[in-house]
Amino acid sequence: MAKAAIMGYGTVGSGVYDIIRINAAKLTKSAGEDIDLKYILDIREFDDHPEKELFTKDVNDIINDDEVSVVAEVMGGLHPAYEFTKSLLMAGKNVVTSNKELVATYGSELIATAKENGVNYLFEASVGGGIPVLRPLACCLAANNIKKIAGILNGTTNYILYQMITNSKSFDMALKDAQANGYAERNPAADIEGYDACRKIAILASLASGFEVDYSEISTEGITNITLDDVKCARELDAVIKLIGYAEFFENGKIYAHVAPMMIKNGSMLSGVDDVFNAVLINGDAVGDVMFYGPGAGKLPTASAVVADIVDCIVHKGMSRRIGWIKPRSSIAAGKDDKKFSYFVRADKNADITGFGTVTEFRSLGDENVFITEPMTASEMDEARAIVKTAIRILD
Ligand code: HSE
Repeated sequence: MAKAAIMGYGTVGSGVYDIIRINAAKLTKSAGEDIDLKYILDIREFDDHPEKELFTKDVNDIINDDEVSVVAEVMGGLHPAYEFTKSLLMAGKNVVTSNKELVATYGSELIATAKENGVNYLFEASVGGGIPVLRPLACCLAANNIKKIAGILNGTTNYILYQMITNSKSFDMALKDAQANGYAERNPAADIEGYDACRKIAILASLASGFEVDYSEISTEGITNITLDDVKCARELDAVIKLIGYAEFFENGKIYAHVAPMMIKNGSMLSGVDDVFNAVLINGDAVGDVMFYGPGAGKLPTASAVVADIVDCIVHKGMSRRIGWIKPRSSIAAGKDDKKFSYFVRADKNADITGFGTVTEFRSLGDENVFITEPMTASEMDEARAIVKTAIRILD
């Protein structure tokens, strides 16, 4: 029997509890032994909970209990999640998590600590909610040099954009619904300003390259500047706008990455990914394009990935899983101008657009012109910004 603990009884933590209880027989089959939940750590009171005796407010109960072999850290945030995780790993316990902020910030250190202590630090739920993507990237695509990753990595923003476009909901109303559905972060700025997607593309790029990609070096823009007019104009060009985490891996070992709203032509693999769904498109030099698709946020989908990691730790007792990365000696971030994109531009009808070179898909819509530019660098677009209303990169 494997003894387990949950740290944090919020949306994901209660989902982990539910799955452990409801799918107990299946989990025993998968893990090869029963999973016995011994503690739930939370600072709040849960006096009405049917198993209130499991709750503790003291992490030392878990750290000092030699019987506990695996802990799900689903409390979120950096502190005290970092300190708790580090202590648990050093005490020889496996830790699994959905905490992308922690993985993106302290992943290299925690992965190394796990290895030193002969245990695992697994974080499948940190990217794409319930979608299996990190293990397939690390294991099933191990034969490939990864060339590109483009993902719809934030369920909340995808849900908001979808509700605004399809159901004409206001931004605020769509955000409220996302919060009510348990998709949004405690501070929704993490979602709508792109920080959450930034952590996730950093994790994907780190795993793909084997070296930590520092999320603070990733240019990050959210969806707050996207208007319904932008969306309608994109539709005129048979395209949609999605918040994309993008990474490209250059032969010199540098990695270009950004998070930004991007325009995607209808019919391409990511264009039909709507609602709270996420998708991660990965291009490998041997396999070509593969896409991982599924529910990117929410209680049970995210908990599904957390519990699968618990099972993996039990099955691989005493073995280190090769899912991780190390810190590089120096930054591996490419410069913002090392990659050119074509842009979807909306400009005033009288604006001089000759500086954009040969534009395509030109349309005159009311008092403005919309078109697609030749590929240009971020700095070139920065110079042109004064004469454009909207400039959104095209995902090719
Ligand atoms: N707030 C996140 C999202 C939760 O909306 O994608 C899942 O990581």
